[in-house]
Amino acid sequence: MTSPGEFKDAMRRVPTGVSVVTSFKEDEPRGITVNAFASVSADPPQLLICINRAARSYLYISASRVFCLNVLAGNQRHLAERFAGKMRERQFDEVAYRGGLTGSPVIEGTIAHFECRVAEEHHAGSHSIFIGEVVACSARPGTPLGYFNGGYHDFGIEVE
Ligand SMILES: Cc1cc2nc3c(=O)[nH]c(=O)nc-3n(C[C@H](O)[C@H](O)[C@H](O)COP(=O)(O)O)c2cc1C
Repeated sequence: MTSPGEFKDAMRRVPTGVSVVTSFKEDEPRGITVNAFASVSADPPQLLICINRAARSYLYISASRVFCLNVLAGNQRHLAERFAGKMRERQFDEVAYRGGLTGSPVIEGTIAHFECRVAEEHHAGSHSIFIGEVVACSARPGTPLGYFNGGYHDFGIEVE
């Protein structure tokens, strides 16, 4: 079997977008920066996210059974950093968001969002794969925040 180091080195060569998955517990909002996300099915609309079961966000998503995937715009790198462990408490101070259909925070200024109810959870190694049934989503013009080789990038692409 390959080593975790070799695996991580090869994965660094895979360019991705960057999203913040939000959820809540007892009215307290929580978010986590993710790039392990994929479309699963168009009919019914479903997507998947992979969340480390050691992450605090895991408890929020598994308890509330809802989450929102917020796809960050190029000018939202500060949010990617904030939700990747910089803020232990009061994560949403000075973050513009509204409560969505599921109650999960929908962050303002993103290029897309997908609000989901958890349909399935599968344990896989250190992570859980959550399959979400999409109950609401939106798309806006803009440029995505990119991630490649361990750093944030502007991929130089834009949608009208
Ligand atoms: C670009 C990027 C992508 C990430 N993708 C994921 C991911 O898909 N799943 C995950 O569990 N953690 C991912 N992480 C790590 C979490 O954001 C990080 O561990 C976070 O601090 C966990 O916070 P929590 O324990 O407060 O929930 C990623 C981090 C970065 C910077």
